[in-house]
Amino acid sequence: MILRLAAALCLTLLAHAAPAQDTVAWKTGREAKLIETRIEALLKTMTLDEKVGQLHLSGRGEGFNAARIREGRMGGVMNFVVPQEVADVQKAARESRLKIPLIIGLDAVHGFSTYFPLPLGQASTWNPELIEEAAYWTGREARAAGIQWTFAPMVDISRDPRWGRVLEGAGEDAYFGSIVAASRTHGYQRGGVATTVKHFVGYGAGEAGRDYNSTWIPTSQLFDLYLPPFKASFEAGSMTAMAAFNALNGVPTTAHGGLLTGLLRQNWGFKGFVVSDFGSITELRLHGIAKDDAEAARKALLAGIDMDMMGDVYDKHLAAEVKAGRVSVKMLDEAVRRVLRVKFHLGLFERPDVDPAAAPALMQTQEAREVALRAAREGIILLKNANETLPVASSVKRLAVIGAMAVPEAERVWTDPAGLGRRAIQSLPDALKERVQAGVEVVYEPAFTRNCGTEFADKEAALRAAAASDLVIAMLGEDCEFIGEGASRANLGLPGVQQELLEALVATGKPVVLVLATGRPLVLTWADAHVAAIVQTFHGGTEGRTAIAEVLTGAANPAGRTPMSYPRSVGQIPIYYNHLPTGRPQKIRQRYESIYMDEKNEPLYPFGFGLSYSRFTYANPRVDRSRIPINGIAEISVDVTNSGSRDGQEVTQLYIRQPVAIRSRPVRELKGFNKLAIKAGETRTVRFKLEAQKLGYHDDTGRYVIEPGLFEVYLGGSALAEAKTQFEVIKP
Ligand code: BGC
Repeated sequence: MILRLAAALCLTLLAHAAPAQDTVAWKTGREAKLIETRIEALLKTMTLDEKVGQLHLSGRGEGFNAARIREGRMGGVMNFVVPQEVADVQKAARESRLKIPLIIGLDAVHGFSTYFPLPLGQASTWNPELIEEAAYWTGREARAAGIQWTFAPMVDISRDPRWGRVLEGAGEDAYFGSIVAASRTHGYQRGGVATTVKHFVGYGAGEAGRDYNSTWIPTSQLFDLYLPPFKASFEAGSMTAMAAFNALNGVPTTAHGGLLTGLLRQNWGFKGFVVSDFGSITELRLHGIAKDDAEAARKALLAGIDMDMMGDVYDKHLAAEVKAGRVSVKMLDEAVRRVLRVKFHLGLFERPDVDPAAAPALMQTQEAREVALRAAREGIILLKNANETLPVASSVKRLAVIGAMAVPEAERVWTDPAGLGRRAIQSLPDALKERVQAGVEVVYEPAFTRNCGTEFADKEAALRAAAASDLVIAMLGEDCEFIGEGASRANLGLPGVQQELLEALVATGKPVVLVLATGRPLVLTWADAHVAAIVQTFHGGTEGRTAIAEVLTGAANPAGRTPMSYPRSVGQIPIYYNHLPTGRPQKIRQRYESIYMDEKNEPLYPFGFGLSYSRFTYANPRVDRSRIPINGIAEISVDVTNSGSRDGQEVTQLYIRQPVAIRSRPVRELKGFNKLAIKAGETRTVRFKLEAQKLGYHDDTGRYVIEPGLFEVYLGGSALAEAKTQFEVIKP
């Protein structure tokens, strides 16, 4: 019996450990040394063209020239997702003179075959382990299709929901963003694909929220706000990085030697390679810092861009630049070394090519879908719930689901690997029908055409269905060109005819639950004042609508929290919780205070906010000692009670403030959070360990400073946390 138990245990452990064999990570010690020897040996045998070839990244589609692979003049390819095609290109590389394998990359941003919520939706779970699992399964599926490298995670902090790419990130906060960045890096690489932390750096700060626009970031802010998630991803082992499109303080980052070489390589010791963004080297001409592509190639390489993504500029010009002596062989070799290093550490030279026949069985496994469901469920944010409209009461006998966002086709997916068998995403009405009590009728009316509700379908039918129901579920949002890259918006209302529809639904007099599937926080000021409940999702992926149905019916208790502040009006942007105090703070809202004449200062919903069907109260905030040495640790705790009648999950957040310092310090800064299941009626003590070393900031030269003095601590369920304690940091 004992033996059988032991054998079973062994099997369980093996089953658990099995996926880890795919893990990619920097090798250390002897193995790393051996790799350096192999790189040098290989470099010696390479021609100039073969060296340049390693820096050339080309992609599937028009103009792709597979012959270049056999000639040894392509180091990587991207956008191949069909396993047989992946196998074919890799075979071509094995037929080249030196047989150097290709690195095969893809934007596996929030899934490959199984789709998880958009990264902003994953971030809304405030559950780092779950976020890591989502990245793990994404990596594993991509890896099963022969992909070894993903252009993720995007870790750009943004305080501007006008920017369409906030959906790829983790929101507005550097501390939170760093934890998410590390989790996603670990997850992907454990799943078997190398990560590309991007976009280095400041891309999320584009002026006026316009994509690709210039950024102006003071050094102290660069170090305090924008760089930490990159650092966290490198510390978690990210093997590559991508430079950004934007110019930072006047210098396009693609040609920014201070950042790419000075900071990244010399200060941080990064050993992997840096890839340009899509065609960004040739764009140096348009930025006005290169007169032609040859100069652009030279400037990028000298600054520290190792691989040219889709620009063909290195391919066309680098060899000539080297021959003319404008780029030294030493510099070229260094870039090639970095690319080869990643290929060796990834094990590409030893790794068997993808088995196209085996790939489909590894897609959308039960485990992956379970993680997708949990991530979708935990990322749903309940923003408003007047009169406990939700979960749907037993008195509701007829539910009207209105809005074309309720159908699976409205779901945003990045790539759709054909032939790998995707499970159909459930529609919201179908998911509800499975979950409502017997006898409850669910009717569905699309009301508008997809593509962000550009026009009405049968509006009258929708209003009739609403009028005949006990509760209206309006699923609205952004499912069009309005989200993602190149999709900045100057207006953040519901697009198309959707606002008009929402107002007409409210006018029926029936309670309306607004369910949103967007790529960003919208301006919901009207909705907040008029609808009964608001449920935010950021395109929940394969299991998204199933999870929404669970939340609406009460099978799941909402536990998501927003990683971005919701503006009341576009004019408040940039809006973020950790702003500095002013000398003229808002007191009684009168002129000559720092206020708007026509709008409140506060966001509609603050950072970290989200309701639940439970109610959580905070008591007894305390710190173990009132004085902490500068190299010491403060132990902070608070009692959290679920005073509601349902079990739930609370995200306890810890914010600090240093009221007096040499520089003006933010009114609040997140320094810890903890997501915990708390049973109805139960009180749990949540504990944090806060290192004094983590309480500092960067000065104008980028130097890290920790100033002794008083620190206030606020604990609670959002950036408005009220339970307060304090301690003093002292010099030992
Ligand atoms: C984006 C990158 C992406 C690349 C490849 C670019 O336009 O900025 O984030 O990885 O395209 O698809």
